[in-house]
Amino acid sequence: MESMGTLKRSHNCSMLRAENLGEEVILMGWIHRRRDHGGVIFIDLRDRWGITQVVFNPELNAEVHAKAHDLRSEWVICIRGKVSSRPEGMRNDKLETGDIEILVDELRILNVSKTPPFPLDEDTDISDNLRLTYRYLDLRRPGMSANLIMRHTASQAIRTYLNSENFLEIETPILTRSTPEGARDYLVPSRVHAGKFYALPQSPQLFKQLLMVAGMDRYYQIVRCFRDEDLRADRQPEFTQLDMELSFVTEEDIYSIAEGVMTAVFKETKGIDLEPPFSRMTYDEAMERFGTDKPDTRFGLELVSLTEVVKDCSFKVFRTVVEKGGLVKSINAKGCATFSRKVLDDLTSYVGNFGAKGLAWVKVKADGEWQSPIAKFFTDEERNNMSSTLGAEEGDLLFFVADTPNIVHQALAELRLELARRLELMDNDTFNFLWITDFPLLEYDHEQKRHTAVHHPFTSPYDSDLDLLETDPGKVKSRAYDLVLNGTEIGGGSLRIHRKDIQEKVFAAQGISAEEAADKFHFLLKALELGAPPHGGIAFGLDRLMMILAGKDSIRDVIAFPKTQRATCPLTEAPASVERKQLTELYLRPDWE
Ligand code: AMO
Ligand code: AMP
Repeated sequence: MESMGTLKRSHNCSMLRAENLGEEVILMGWIHRRRDHGGVIFIDLRDRWGITQVVFNPELNAEVHAKAHDLRSEWVICIRGKVSSRPEGMRNDKLETGDIEILVDELRILNVSKTPPFPLDEDTDISDNLRLTYRYLDLRRPGMSANLIMRHTASQAIRTYLNSENFLEIETPILTRSTPEGARDYLVPSRVHAGKFYALPQSPQLFKQLLMVAGMDRYYQIVRCFRDEDLRADRQPEFTQLDMELSFVTEEDIYSIAEGVMTAVFKETKGIDLEPPFSRMTYDEAMERFGTDKPDTRFGLELVSLTEVVKDCSFKVFRTVVEKGGLVKSINAKGCATFSRKVLDDLTSYVGNFGAKGLAWVKVKADGEWQSPIAKFFTDEERNNMSSTLGAEEGDLLFFVADTPNIVHQALAELRLELARRLELMDNDTFNFLWITDFPLLEYDHEQKRHTAVHHPFTSPYDSDLDLLETDPGKVKSRAYDLVLNGTEIGGGSLRIHRKDIQEKVFAAQGISAEEAADKFHFLLKALELGAPPHGGIAFGLDRLMMILAGKDSIRDVIAFPKTQRATCPLTEAPASVERKQLTELYLRPDWE
């Protein structure tokens, strides 16, 4: 092996052009590909920036050519040579450096490499586990490094924009107390205080509120959050938020800053000009029309309520559900009457995963005639009423689910997405932003037998709903909002409670006793008595935003070193056992031994 010695890199692997012809250059990088053409050896030299072709010609330099014979994929080399024009017909339009090549005068082998466990091209399908075990190789692949580069660009755009809007970037503690965002905490045992634990923050929520009490006025942070919850493609145990908080504001100020952030990020990363303000929809409307609080509005297939139309109908299943306070809702899949029986069976079992007891369907034939297992249960008039409510036309396929509101909404919201996937209605180049507003403040938790916060316990109710806190807590609307992009919740926030009396009332409505509140949140309650300004904020899931920008299906593809679905890191093999001594120091008994 050799060293770089006094050789200094003159250019990176994407810089050289026809203007540089004749220049002597020094490049360093990895051997991406090696081809032998009748004695002449061609190497694609790769670094983070790109690829440059380097040429070892035995007629020009026999000694260097002989040395180049040994070179293999992923070896690390340094070359000195002259920029030369590629012969006519050998130019490569796909490469930025495709007009030139380097004729090598000197080759230094800086390091060798074993044969990599998988090819570093874009096309080979590699198992997630192997990719994560050798993540540093996975990240050498141009698509993956492009994702990290785009993420860097996004972070810079965020900082530049928020700095220009007078925000301060302030760090908050990682070793802290439990922050209630509804997930399980990661705990860190204290060595100094027997039996006591820090919690890793689920978000900097309380600290950012305290920064408002401190008069910082406009805070942001690109910050790691930790939540021990079941993982999915868009959830990691540690993830990054763009977290913000502002004083003396209403929802409008926060929407406008958030829209400014998105506009800057889209412009800098994709060159796309967004056009704020973004659309808005209340939570109630979103549930009614899409069955979910994060609707993908790139396509139609909206839910239509038939509850009123069928409440007295002859079909017992529908009638009984309505009598019990349930709903009957429908989706008209326009032009889908050609779906096969097998597809209909698949869709029926699909909605079954979300609790639906059945999926009734109707194929609309000529003259509005129904082909359907449930056609016989309805009178002509009932069929006509349903068809006209749904705007049914020949060739349409109508789906119905009757059940409790939760099941109807979940099943049809998922059916809607599944239909859109099958019909390829989700266009990756369309970016539909949507604010969802006026969330309920509380929801009833049947397990805990009490109301819990839909967003978090510090969210402000509407003043006009304060009286309902004691009488009908489930009806109270909050000043919380989510930002949804193409059906993914990319951010959420709220105006906060800044008065102690209201905070105490909201705790009480959630069955949090005065003692419990004093124990867990005494520092917040104290601060609310010492001049807390009106304030509010929002946090964005940066990983989710980057996933959508990169056109990926998993946030793992935009995180340098993510965890698996089982919250492990195959590269370091974390989590790992520790020495008994460490456990003793931390006052932990290894019960499992
Ligand atoms: P919330 O809990 O809605 O709000 O989180 C904000 C955003 O963070 C993203 N997110 C996640 N991304 C990846 N993996 C996860 N496990 C994960 N969990 C959440 C989502 C979500 O919209 N403190 C409040 C914000 C506030 O009120 O200002 C909070 O954390 O995109
Ligand atoms: P059954 O009378 O149970 O054979 O059901 C007749 C049709 O109604 C079948 O196509 C079922 O899939 C459908 N069905 C049954 N229960 C429901 C329900 N709760 N919602 C929607 N369709 C249903």
